[in-house]
Amino acid sequence: MNPSPSQRSGRILLAVSGGIAAYKVPELVRQLTKAGHEVRCALTPAACEFVSPMVLQTLSGAPARSELFDPGEEGEISHIELADWPDLVVVAPATAHVLARMTAGLADDLVTTLLLATRAPVLVAPAMNVNMWDHPATRENVGRLRERGVLLEGPVAGELACGWEGEGRMAEPEAIAARVGLLLSGDAWKGIRVLVSAGGTREPIDAVRSITNRSSGKMGFAVAAEAARRGAEVVLVAGPTALSTPPGVRRIDVETALDMEAAVNAEFPACQVAVMSAAVADFRPAHREAKKIKKEDLGPDQGLRLDLVPNPDILAGISRERGDRIVIGFAAESHDVVEAARRKIARKGCDLIVANDISRADAGFDTDTNAVFLISPGGEAEELPLLSKAEVAERLLDRVEKLRGVAR
Ligand code: CTP
Repeated sequence: MNPSPSQRSGRILLAVSGGIAAYKVPELVRQLTKAGHEVRCALTPAACEFVSPMVLQTLSGAPARSELFDPGEEGEISHIELADWPDLVVVAPATAHVLARMTAGLADDLVTTLLLATRAPVLVAPAMNVNMWDHPATRENVGRLRERGVLLEGPVAGELACGWEGEGRMAEPEAIAARVGLLLSGDAWKGIRVLVSAGGTREPIDAVRSITNRSSGKMGFAVAAEAARRGAEVVLVAGPTALSTPPGVRRIDVETALDMEAAVNAEFPACQVAVMSAAVADFRPAHREAKKIKKEDLGPDQGLRLDLVPNPDILAGISRERGDRIVIGFAAESHDVVEAARRKIARKGCDLIVANDISRADAGFDTDTNAVFLISPGGEAEELPLLSKAEVAERLLDRVEKLRGVAR
């Protein structure tokens, strides 16, 4: 079978570590070569206990190596040349131990040396006992590897070779091979639906007056445009703004926070990524007068007292329901930006907060540039330089790709 036209075949370095799931690796090699990829295999010493290098060598048509300093093998192609060779490294199965060694940057055998030396993207297919996968050490290692851009396929839930049931089975060879095809074809956003909220909301007081804020919607529109450019299906829920709809984006116009909440909640279940950049009014008038409030009805020199009631927190609401979707929030802060955003991400429960310093003249509301921090749930803060909003959108979507486990 030839690869489909959108799929590019490439050079795959398949690193095999020592778990029972290694018995599926010959099938993975077969699938990858069938799809037109060139495959070379490297094994940890423990992997050789589970799968024969001779089988992998025969199926891949290239020497399968397991020794770091074997004179014959090094003469053929040095381990550094082998690390430089692939378009993509696939670690399958990736044991808890190999993930821990990758996290620590150890290079104590051929496989970990290749993983440290390579500059190619790395896709890991973990396979282990469910309790090992759930262990805080593995959780932490996987989190750190993801932050470094390591991609994951699986593990999936099911019956495990050790007798336990749960998450820990290696993804099937077909799924790994399909993911490899997707990564090499650059179609990372194909079929991905992204929901973006943008702009401020307008909370009516009477027939003509309303409470609103200075949000222009430019940041959210830039995110929507960039996601569409990358091939995602984009739904943009926009508060009142004069901006034009970016090409390829489906737009839903809303006015109030309650309208925005209804539109976001309706679209969210069918989306894989949500970027909530709207400046939602936190309060709305408790009563909306249908007619214009007349000063003469208030009496001479009388002020107007408004009762405000809180609006729902749209971001916190969808974060609670997110499952495996990625949810990104924004934070408009005028002081203690990073600290305030750290508290906000803990409160809202999303995957990332983009924090703006709105006290700056060149960032935040109604500017073309932005200076932001990307704040992770653990509190880590990455400061981006002053960039155009389009560039901030690019950097943000690069981060989303990492979070989704799809590298560029
Ligand atoms: N947000 C929301 N619903 C609200 C208020 C905010 O979904 N009722 C979302 C915004 O879209 C943004 C994030 O929450 O992604 C943070 O908004 P921000 O105005 O910075 O924070 P608030 O929650 O309003 O907190 P505070 O005003 O106290 O800073």
